[in-house]
Parts: sequence; structure tokens; C-alpha cells
Amino acid sequence: MKRQSTPNDMPIITGILTVSDRASAGEYDDLGGPALKEAAIRNGWNVFGEAIIPDEINRIQEAIRSFAAQGCGLILTTGGTGIAARDVTPEAIRGVMRVELPGFGEVMRAESMKITPNAILSRNLAAVVEQALVIALPGKPSGAVECLGFVAGAIPHGVALAQRVPTSC
Ligand code: MTE
Repeated sequence: MKRQSTPNDMPIITGILTVSDRASAGEYDDLGGPALKEAAIRNGWNVFGEAIIPDEINRIQEAIRSFAAQGCGLILTTGGTGIAARDVTPEAIRGVMRVELPGFGEVMRAESMKITPNAILSRNLAAVVEQALVIALPGKPSGAVECLGFVAGAIPHGVALAQRVPTSC
């Protein structure tokens, strides 16, 4: 797969967050995080770190801010974008974002509808938090990788803009 990076061939430093009460409690193995790590590597991005955290707004916000502060230009979250009572990933991101990028959620849902009618239940989104592009993906590993694939083409430019790297549209 063609290596993708921001202009000037800057690497795309990626943080991966699995948002799951049960995975963070060790009740089941995190499969979404590793699946996204493989996808990031296939795209030629540098995986800086991974974390598994519960479905808690403050923990999600702390983890995103920590990855952003350590230089991640891309932060991928998986889980907590549905309608369950503990699904709070969108609210957590909206509470710390500078701007939301609605096109990412629109494309992820539209393309996912071709795969599953349940795609309409996803509140996945993308936003800029500090100088990082944050993309909230479904919790199902295959769904997370599918949705990432639908928007991967816009990630290098989106990361460059989030990091304020001089670039031309
Ligand atoms: N999108 C894709 N591409 N593939 C999927 O399997 N799962 C759907 C939806 N979007 C799915 C998808 C389902 S079943 C739900 S409930 C919502 O994502 C939210 O998933 P989450 O609660 O695991 O974040």
C-alpha cells in the first residue's frame, strides 16, 4: 500500500485508544486496538502508543490530550460510538475539540451502510483536538478498520492542517 504521510514526507505519528469498560477491566482481550495498529502500519504511519481505557469521559479526554501533547498528529479511538448508556466517546471528544470535521462521520456512515444497516447507529466522528486529528471509530474491530479505510485518503492532509504544517489543498 502506498506510504501515506503529511506533506514534506513528515511521518504521521499515531496514537491508538481502545475505549471499553470490559477490555480495560481485562474481561476480554482488546482486538480493536491491534487491528487499528496493523492498519496504521499498512498505511505507513508510525504508531507512537496504544492505550485501553474505560468508557469514562474524563479518561478519554486525558488520554487524547496526552497523545496530542506527546506529538501524535493522528489519534484513533475505537468503541463507545453507539447508543448504549456507557457510549460516551463522541461527548468526550466534543468536550475538548477545537473543531469537528463532519465529513468524516458522514462518509464513514454512508460507506458503512453498504456493509451493515447498523451503521446508522454509529455516532462516529472526527475532530481537531489541540494539534491532532482525532477519529472516533466503531468498537467492532472489523468496523473500525473498515471506517478507517473509508477516510484514510484524507488523513495525511488532515493531519498536516491539524499540525499547522504548511500545505496546499
Ligand atoms: N460500521 C462498520 N463499517 N462496520 C460495523 O460493523 N457496526 C455498527 C456501527 N457502524 C459497524 C459500523 C454498530 S452494530 C454499532 S452499534 C455502531 O457502529 C456503534 O458501534 P460501537 O458502539 O462499537 O462504537
